[in-house]
Amino acid sequence: MKNPPPAFNSLNTLSESLHAAFDPHLFHENSETVVARLKSHLTDVSVRGLELTDPAILIRAARELMTTEHESVAAFDEKKLAAIVDLYVRTGIQVHSPGYMGRQFSGTVPLAGVIDFVSSVVNQPSSFYEAGQLPNVAERIMADELNRFIGWDPGRFAMVTTSGGSLANLTALLAARNSTFPGIWSNGESGTSVRPAIAMSEHVHYSLARAVGVLGIGEAQIVRLPVNRRQQIDADRARVALAAAERRNLRVFCLVASAGTTTMGAFDPIDELADVAAEHGSWLHVDGAHGASLLVSDRLRRKLRGIERADSLTWDAHKMMFVPAPCTLLFYRNAEKAMGAFQQRASYVFDEDPDIYGAYDSGDKNFECTKRPMIMPLWTLWAIYGRALFAEKIEYLCRLTHDAHGILLAEPDFETLHHPEANILCFRYRPPGVEKEHLHRLQLEIRKKIRSDGRFFISKVDVEGVAALRVVMMNHQINPEHIRMLIAEIRSTGEHLLTKNAGDQ
Ligand SMILES: Cc1ncc(COP(=O)(O)O)c(C=O)c1O
Repeated sequence: MKNPPPAFNSLNTLSESLHAAFDPHLFHENSETVVARLKSHLTDVSVRGLELTDPAILIRAARELMTTEHESVAAFDEKKLAAIVDLYVRTGIQVHSPGYMGRQFSGTVPLAGVIDFVSSVVNQPSSFYEAGQLPNVAERIMADELNRFIGWDPGRFAMVTTSGGSLANLTALLAARNSTFPGIWSNGESGTSVRPAIAMSEHVHYSLARAVGVLGIGEAQIVRLPVNRRQQIDADRARVALAAAERRNLRVFCLVASAGTTTMGAFDPIDELADVAAEHGSWLHVDGAHGASLLVSDRLRRKLRGIERADSLTWDAHKMMFVPAPCTLLFYRNAEKAMGAFQQRASYVFDEDPDIYGAYDSGDKNFECTKRPMIMPLWTLWAIYGRALFAEKIEYLCRLTHDAHGILLAEPDFETLHHPEANILCFRYRPPGVEKEHLHRLQLEIRKKIRSDGRFFISKVDVEGVAALRVVMMNHQINPEHIRMLIAEIRSTGEHLLTKNAGDQ
């Protein structure tokens, strides 16, 4: 005969260790341990990039920190907590160091982290008002605050937060598709006499091509719009491409403009593209994941001229608004169209008769159900420091990138590839005598070696089929001296690799 299953615990048999895991005094002590470590991490502004660890070694180190006790709740071990935090901090990209110049996520304003910590403790997911009252109100406030820079009708526009720009792009394309083809949601594409298509340049972020795949439109229905030498869509040549698409029986329901491409930070001419979209009855989506934040700067807003004519805008606050990832805002000019992205009934969350509370829910405009209250760090910074915190830092970073370009121009063994429009700069190490066919490999090897040396963290990207080095300025503690240090590092790495490669041949 089988043994009966063990009896459930009753309240008075719960272990002391379980109670301790929820103990507020211990929580206070834990927080102090962690905050002290983070403070010394933030205080260290030495130039460093990434300490790249062999994953097998890291797995071993992480496993050594795990309890082997599984029958009862293990006792709290403060040393273990400290070791976990140290390992976490040490093995990450050092985003608060001036050596970090490689990616688009930022060294966050520390206060943003403090509020994120509160969010994790009080745990108020934000898709429904009743679950997160302040986050939902903060979303409305931030939407109004930022819409002042977009310029849409305050009574008509809508904003939802999504976990990242990729999901925002997908959601916007879905709303656009449903606006032109309302029947597809229920019937699929079988009832359509023309083929739905989307127009974009080849320099859009890869999430857009993925969205096209997810929507079932098919990559073959992407109409590629020609660009100029600065990687910006050429509106006149776009008209020609769209006319050709129409002749192929494609219905281009959406045109995508980038406000800051991922590779070079190029801004498409939104105003001109709004004319083109209007001529074709297309939705204009602007992917401003990287560059929409420039709207808060009086000096830089002109980069998004015409944004008030777009239908939707993706805006990543975890990039140029310096808050923890993810925090993306997806704006729609017309709230009714936002409602068209998703059409579900679910009695457990969507009320048949929305009351004053339900009117603040965002779950009906959003793919996610449970979602972090990601607006809280952004709203808190905005509430406490105001717009200028962001504008001042963004302007410094763009100015710094412009200066970095000037410094590189004066270096005969470096090749610059564009005038930076924002805070992204691509260039190559190209001393005389390096054959074109070796250039690509050389950049890749330099980037790898610099990453493993651990003083700087930069990225790489292909420009016209040849690899280039890429820096993204996200840290206001970087100054021109750091840029000169990076150039010296790239040069000595490049020289070393060229000598080594010559020896290997
Ligand atoms: C222009 C652009 N769009 C979209 C994305 C995707 O955003 P996320 O990484 O928040 O999903 C990125 C990310 O780098 C981007 O640069």
